[in-house]
Amino acid sequence: MDFKKKLVDEFHACFHSDPEFLVRAPGRINLIGEHTDYNDGFVLPLAIDRAVWLALRIRQDRMVVVYSLDFAEKVEFSLDDIHRNRGWSENIKGIAWAFQDAGYHLVGWEGIMVGDVPIGAGLSSSAAAGLVTARAFIKTSGLEWNPVRMAKICQAAENQWLGLNSGIMDQMVSAGARLGHAFFLDCRSLEFQHVPIPPGIAILVLDTTTRRELVNSAYNQRHAECAAAARSFGVPALRDVTLDMLVGRSALVDDVLFRRTRHVVTENQRVLDAVAALRLGDIPRLGELLKASHVSLRDDFEVSSDALDKIVACANHQPECYGARMTGAGFGGCAVALVRSDALEAFIRSVKLCYLHATGVDADIYVCLPGEGATVLTL
Ligand code: GLA
Repeated sequence: MDFKKKLVDEFHACFHSDPEFLVRAPGRINLIGEHTDYNDGFVLPLAIDRAVWLALRIRQDRMVVVYSLDFAEKVEFSLDDIHRNRGWSENIKGIAWAFQDAGYHLVGWEGIMVGDVPIGAGLSSSAAAGLVTARAFIKTSGLEWNPVRMAKICQAAENQWLGLNSGIMDQMVSAGARLGHAFFLDCRSLEFQHVPIPPGIAILVLDTTTRRELVNSAYNQRHAECAAAARSFGVPALRDVTLDMLVGRSALVDDVLFRRTRHVVTENQRVLDAVAALRLGDIPRLGELLKASHVSLRDDFEVSSDALDKIVACANHQPECYGARMTGAGFGGCAVALVRSDALEAFIRSVKLCYLHATGVDADIYVCLPGEGATVLTL
């Protein structure tokens, strides 16, 4: 969709003038490294070619006014008086709150927002909306864009304003990704490297079209379990547990915590192995790691779902697929598959048919291109 023209037209209709700036921030898909970010571990996501966009103009007062085309609703609030409420605009208010809480002086603006990251699908529509808002504030307030600082502000908003104890993966990749590359991140040091995606493979989103309620409470519960497991090992985070430590203490650790820990420990190693495989262009090896990640998320971390297991099985059954697994927080939403790029049509047709047979539901399957992190665009 041509968002630029749409946003400019809608801006005219709503605010009777031209916008001054156009900003966008992408959603993400995680190749591997799931539920490791809040354990100080490693992740390997990439930004996708779907994003949240915002056309905006500076205001002279301290008001922020946003019309969302997706929610068909306008909200406004003063930067001097931010209150908690409910709904999509909490994401925007939370970012304003987090900036000001960190000592930034902000300027008000008015804008039109639209996005094509599916909501609740595990592709980080919420982080994209947060980052695009941060990009808007930085631009209008004449401040310098620093991806790591911005990711931390946006994470603080999500943790403290929205009450979700999420890690920093989604914000970091939406802020700092590079076109054509995966984003290898150490979630403890926040150091990252851009790893090129080799030619010949396509990254596919397999959307089960299931959306789960109460994901937040299940997510926060996993977060609490990991913190409890780290305490029982006497380490700051599960990143510091090795497989030997885990096996050595298996009799002393509660079964659930043992399995949560085993997932995190083995998943961290899989991310390191996946980065090495990607650099060598060893895609079959990468595919095997994705498959192993799914099994671990399903059996040890218990965040998959029947629909996710079925679509992953359908994908892994196809000869053109190197490997597939659930992606994102889980409990529904999407899987990711690595597929030979010369055999996409056959793959999509077969997986759709297989999933329809297995569930009676039509899956939504599409290629995603590794995209650029948050940007300001020319109007
Ligand atoms: C959500 C969170 C991330 C991460 C993933 C699971 O997307 O926002 O921080 O924890 O789940 O890997």
